[in-house]
Amino acid sequence: MALIASLVLLAWIVAGLVQDRTSTWFELDLALRARLVVTGSRASLAADWMPERRAELERQLAEIASDERVMALAACGLDGEMLASTPGFPGQFGCRGIGSLARAGNASPEAPYREWSSVSRLPSGGIHSSAIPITQGGSQIGFLILLQDMSYAERREDLARTLLITSFGALGLLASLLTILAARLSRKAWGAEVRGILQGEKTYQPDFQPILRDVHDLVERILYDQENAPEIWTAERLKQTLRRHLHGERLVIVANREPYIHQHAPDGGIHAVHPASGLVTALEPVMRACSGVWVAHGSGAADREVVDKHDRVRVPPSEESYQIRRIWLTPEEEQGYYYGFSNEGLWPLCHVAHTRPKFVAEDWAHYKAINERFANAVCQEVDTDDPIILVQDYHFALVPALIRRRLPAATVIMFWHIPWPNSERISICPWHREIISGLLGSSIVGFHTQFHCNNFIDSADSYLEARIDREQHAVVRRGHTTLIRPYPISLEWPVRWLDSLPAPEECRRQVWDQLGLKPDALLGLGVDRLDYTKGIEERFLAVERLLDRCPEYRGRFSFVQVAAPSRTKIGLYSQLNDRVEELAARINERFKTEDSRPIILLRSHHEPPDVFRFFRAADLCYVSSLHDGMNLVAKEFVAAREDMLGVLILSQFAGAAKQLTEALIVNPYDIEQASRALEAALRMPQTEQQVRMRSMRSLIARFNVYRWAGDMLVDAARLRSRERLAERLTAIDDFSH
Ligand code: F6P
Repeated sequence: MALIASLVLLAWIVAGLVQDRTSTWFELDLALRARLVVTGSRASLAADWMPERRAELERQLAEIASDERVMALAACGLDGEMLASTPGFPGQFGCRGIGSLARAGNASPEAPYREWSSVSRLPSGGIHSSAIPITQGGSQIGFLILLQDMSYAERREDLARTLLITSFGALGLLASLLTILAARLSRKAWGAEVRGILQGEKTYQPDFQPILRDVHDLVERILYDQENAPEIWTAERLKQTLRRHLHGERLVIVANREPYIHQHAPDGGIHAVHPASGLVTALEPVMRACSGVWVAHGSGAADREVVDKHDRVRVPPSEESYQIRRIWLTPEEEQGYYYGFSNEGLWPLCHVAHTRPKFVAEDWAHYKAINERFANAVCQEVDTDDPIILVQDYHFALVPALIRRRLPAATVIMFWHIPWPNSERISICPWHREIISGLLGSSIVGFHTQFHCNNFIDSADSYLEARIDREQHAVVRRGHTTLIRPYPISLEWPVRWLDSLPAPEECRRQVWDQLGLKPDALLGLGVDRLDYTKGIEERFLAVERLLDRCPEYRGRFSFVQVAAPSRTKIGLYSQLNDRVEELAARINERFKTEDSRPIILLRSHHEPPDVFRFFRAADLCYVSSLHDGMNLVAKEFVAAREDMLGVLILSQFAGAAKQLTEALIVNPYDIEQASRALEAALRMPQTEQQVRMRSMRSLIARFNVYRWAGDMLVDAARLRSRERLAERLTAIDDFSH
């Protein structure tokens, strides 16, 4: 008992000491930051330090205040008059008051100002204020007041205190065990000594200070290194970003498609399948890195058998680093919300693929109800009132606003994975205002390209009472700001599926065996969901044209199409399936030889390692989307080619074409041009393939999915801290009146 009491007391004393120390460090850090901020801008500030240049001075102050921790600034003349300030500068930190403090100890009005700083602890949190003299040609011309937010320091102090008390708890437990052990094992002198120490007869307080200082230095150095690290983002860096900027431990993702679908296996067991989905390819590594919950439609035949009583299941199967929360839909609900409104309405509306969208009131009713159901599930899954929620895709346009209503302080990032049409086209949807307004519940709405952001901003401008902030790329509606930003999605880097695959030559050998190809055969590849936006028919026609024009490739060139069945309950998709099959048969009939056929159609689901084996084996990959938000297949092909070989042919209408400019970019409707690109790819010297591949690989490595998520989270954090500072400044004003 005495031991525990001693440890509690010790923890209390040390926690106090640590808090005191860290507080002093943070104050010193903030004073130093203030000095650094001014040092960099001193000359240009001094040049505008006069009442006539107020506008220029205000612009400079606003620029300095763009640092997320700087709350407000004011420029004060020698006589204590305010020359300029950032908007909403709080009255109680006026030039005269701060000026007299900066002259403290010397009341003479002519005395020079000295550097001064202080901390005001207000009910809403701490504010660090500094006065920094400004000089020109060796003479003082005034001083700058800089107010900084201390909430991050307070959060770190809390964290340090919690860590310390937890450590002492663990130490206490360990010490108790050791004490019991020591008492049992012997009554030797060292046992008594240890007990003496543990029972508080000796304290180690002074010894903690150098250790804590070292820990502080180390933590600061690591954080600094990470923030200024070279360009490659990793899972670890993303995790740190989440913790540092958003103080979040976990993410909540809402996406219709689940990352693991549980199915009954032929052997009677249950196995998890990876769906063919670019969204899942991109988001799953993010979730592994950050942990949390993925709220999704439970669509697998065995999904219900593996969840707990809260409909949750831990995944990935062997790692269990995050959870899926499954939402169940009746066949009618799935028909109306998923097949109907999402995929017969919004999907063709947003893709220019010449398919007429269908909008049915009943489908819309299901869509609204299911959006409500998912939003409710999200609100059940969060563990704070300001969680970070990533809402994915066109299935959930209404979810951001529904969450915002329930959790006004939440950070909601909506990512729209498909194109956004122009404002005239979006109005085809009878409920376009509800859709846009639902999305504007987000803190950020992200698209793959700036073009789609512009279309969205125009749509909001055209159909809602909203203010467009063109400089910030934001829509302001009923006092709420939503940033509209491009974030081109990408892959994890390196791709984990490659770990389990042999080198490209061996993959090629395996694929040659599987497809029965001749040793000197040449292989083209397409990998897609069977969807009319992917341009699969145009792709086959280009192969046919190649064989028409270049007889030397007949009997030698084959094109393997891996086509995952998709949305098969929709008539247009099953018709496409039939057309693709007929076309392949027709072309094969024309050009087949005894031991080869030009089109090899593999119409079934393939797990990622099988798909990556094809990527590694092929001579070229043709991505012929008629319209596509990004298309991650293009990036996957490049990621697979560690041998730097292989040629990517890419549709100009896929978002990826904006980034992968070393691909052979084609118009998939132009069959002649596409067939020439196929020919160019087959004739391309290896040295040229390597140059192109190396450059595309370096781009994907730098702009990988961790960076994609990190950029969104950092932007969200900035927005969040701006909103909090604005609230804080309002609170200060209220407090002082
Ligand atoms: O590309 C749009 C998209 O919804 C992706 O987000 C997803 O990867 C893909 O289509 C798959 O569609 P579904 O989930 O309907 O099979």
